[in-house]
Amino acid sequence: MSIENLEQIAQAMVAPGKGIIAIDESTNTIKKRFDSVGIENTEENRRAYRELLLTTPNLGDHISGAILFDETIRQKTKDGVPFTEVMKKNGIIPGIKVDKGPVPLAGFPGDVITEGLDGLRERLKEYAQLGAQFAKWRAVINITDDNPSSTAIEANAHALARYAALCQEAGIVPMVEPEVVMDGADSTHDLEVSYEVHEAVLRSLFNALYEQNVMLEGTILKISMVIPGKNAPEESQVDAEDVADATVRVLKTTVPATLPGIVFLSGGQEDTQATENLNEINKLGPHPWPVSFSYGRAMQAEALALWAKDIKGNVAAAQKIVLERAKENGEAALGRWKKRA
Ligand code: 13P
Repeated sequence: MSIENLEQIAQAMVAPGKGIIAIDESTNTIKKRFDSVGIENTEENRRAYRELLLTTPNLGDHISGAILFDETIRQKTKDGVPFTEVMKKNGIIPGIKVDKGPVPLAGFPGDVITEGLDGLRERLKEYAQLGAQFAKWRAVINITDDNPSSTAIEANAHALARYAALCQEAGIVPMVEPEVVMDGADSTHDLEVSYEVHEAVLRSLFNALYEQNVMLEGTILKISMVIPGKNAPEESQVDAEDVADATVRVLKTTVPATLPGIVFLSGGQEDTQATENLNEINKLGPHPWPVSFSYGRAMQAEALALWAKDIKGNVAAAQKIVLERAKENGEAALGRWKKRA
């Protein structure tokens, strides 16, 4: 696959007014989401729920791609059609989470490092055959009084860059995702600390991508917003304009203009907050890159809660909510979202 192909996929992922839905929760993570609404974590419930999301009528009007988990990319609709085929028919690019999750970084209490590089070349080959056109690898950066260490930032950036190079070799667009966590128990940091950590993380990441010969033209950045920790004191909380201003500033000083696009994770923000912040960010544009969303919780939470009340009867009603969330976030990706009265 040539760089032109990777570039085309990357550009389609951030087409105007469109973003990505992240439904790549691992079996453990989806268990937490299902537990919170009283759904049993069986393979069939996971399949039925992902079918609901992926077959939402007209989803492709606002959603360019969906990130799947290993189990999901192999699943089919109840009528036997592979999810990846349904997606392509609806104009939704299949993506795949390929990291194996974070583990404690030895020697650095409180820091974590994402695993999953061993055997990745072979796994990417298989995912490409299964229809994946982009991949995701998430690095987790925790903020406490003692974290993150510069070692953790560099180790995670190195792994992200190794992963990205392997993706491009396999003809898959790498979505590189360093998440600066905002909703941990210890997340009491203010906006300024979030800014400083984001700056260090992004500098390290783009240095590492350069060192590993990753072609930025065929890469997408997925990042957290610069925002105070969820458990920060009241006086440290800020409004959407401040989040937007700090986020745009840090991106402009660290992210090369050749990158085809940037998408945000929601990271534990309330649904409307994630939409409003994205909207404010785009109101400050035009930026050197399209800036859109790749939300998991902020796209799904409301629909999942409704579906859980009646998993046979509430499918269409839950899909309506998914489409609404997609439409609103699509508008925010253009800076044209209006708060509902
Ligand atoms: P949230 O939007 O729920 O943070 O999830 C997005 C994601 O893919 C995190 O890796």
